[in-house]
Amino acid sequence: MAYEITKTVKDEKVPYKNPSPAFYEAVGGEEGMRKLMYSFYDIIYESDIQNFFPQDKEEFNKIAAKNTKFFIQLCGGPAVYEEVAGGVGLDEFMIRIHDDFTIPDEARIEWLGCMRQALEAYDMDEELKQDFWEYAERFSKLTVNKFKDLQAFNPYH
Ligand code: HEM
Repeated sequence: MAYEITKTVKDEKVPYKNPSPAFYEAVGGEEGMRKLMYSFYDIIYESDIQNFFPQDKEEFNKIAAKNTKFFIQLCGGPAVYEEVAGGVGLDEFMIRIHDDFTIPDEARIEWLGCMRQALEAYDMDEELKQDFWEYAERFSKLTVNKFKDLQAFNPYH
């Protein structure tokens, strides 16, 4: 299976669609999503981007719990993230949350690597994994907010 990653280009339009409800069903609903996302966060905790996240395990677990709720709602499950997003659209809210951090494309690629590992270890239909992957690969571009300064001074631009 592919798990392709393309580079983020500043200001480029990013077409994406949310994962399908079939993915949510195949992952095993709320309980399955919890399993997948906690294994993802276990991998994050050991990764090269662990320093972006709280080092304290209890605080870290709170992020994992919110992340799980987000993906449950995003993928068509109950609106359990609403209490966090407070009426702001999910996409806009996600971009705002990540704007508090400085995220270069390299960090996104590491993040995606963790997601790929979690997905690969999860027993479910490959096509549906790919559907989820496409969302993550694309939407994650919108969390990137640090571009190499040289790009701004490209004389051939
Ligand atoms: C598809 C792309 C992504 C989605 C959907 C996503 C989703 C989320 C969610 C739901 C949270 C919890 C927010 C909350 O309620 O507090 C979160 C937090 C976070 N994400 Fe992402 N994320 C994505 C990509 C990334 C990438 C590429 C990075 C790169 C480093 C990243 C770094 C973080 C950090 C540092 C936090 C918060 C930690 C804190 O509050 O201390 N995320 N993300």
